[in-house]
Amino acid sequence: MTGQDVEREYRKLVDEIKTCTRCRLHRTRRNPVPGEGPLDAKVMVVGEAPGRNEDLQGRPFVGAAGQLLNKLLELAGLERKEVYITNVVKCRPPGNRDPREDEVEACLPYLLRQIQLIRPRLVIAVGRHAARRLLELAGHPWHSMGSQHGKVYRGRIAGVDLAIAVTYHPAAALYKPPLRKKLEEDFRGPIARIVAEIKS
Ligand code: URA
Repeated sequence: MTGQDVEREYRKLVDEIKTCTRCRLHRTRRNPVPGEGPLDAKVMVVGEAPGRNEDLQGRPFVGAAGQLLNKLLELAGLERKEVYITNVVKCRPPGNRDPREDEVEACLPYLLRQIQLIRPRLVIAVGRHAARRLLELAGHPWHSMGSQHGKVYRGRIAGVDLAIAVTYHPAAALYKPPLRKKLEEDFRGPIARIVAEIKS
């Protein structure tokens, strides 16, 4: 696919997400949040679902968790503007409840198409919802964040060979401060190493 094809397909995808009615979340969302970042990004971050600020602005990770994410990316040698950022679920669950299984299933084809178009070399899965889904798609079992954070898995998703780095959700560190140290260690250590490898 040429760069122009990718852009055209991406615009189509964003239009579909913006008018999506595949699950109940379209009734309560203000703005769907497709994702943002360069279409030739080597690194993709996948979170859980938009929160209140994201729902208001239609952009991913713009609240307090997003500010922490930006700092964590820097620890791994990345600037936010070089990373494509999205979520497993593109619409805010009411009151920020966990996304339900059928909502994730309904939304997953969009994430697969994003991966297919952007072809990242590394996907950073933040939080258990993203980690579980992405690992399962790549054929790896999911056990727990405690045992799998900081690990980097190899696999193929939507026909793209990539690495998947698993870590905690930045929002979790906002209400459980000890997790911040673990997140920082993951970004400064294993994630920074794979980023350096990809950029070399
Ligand atoms: N939490 C997420 O998982 N995604 C966002 O976009 C914001 C907060």
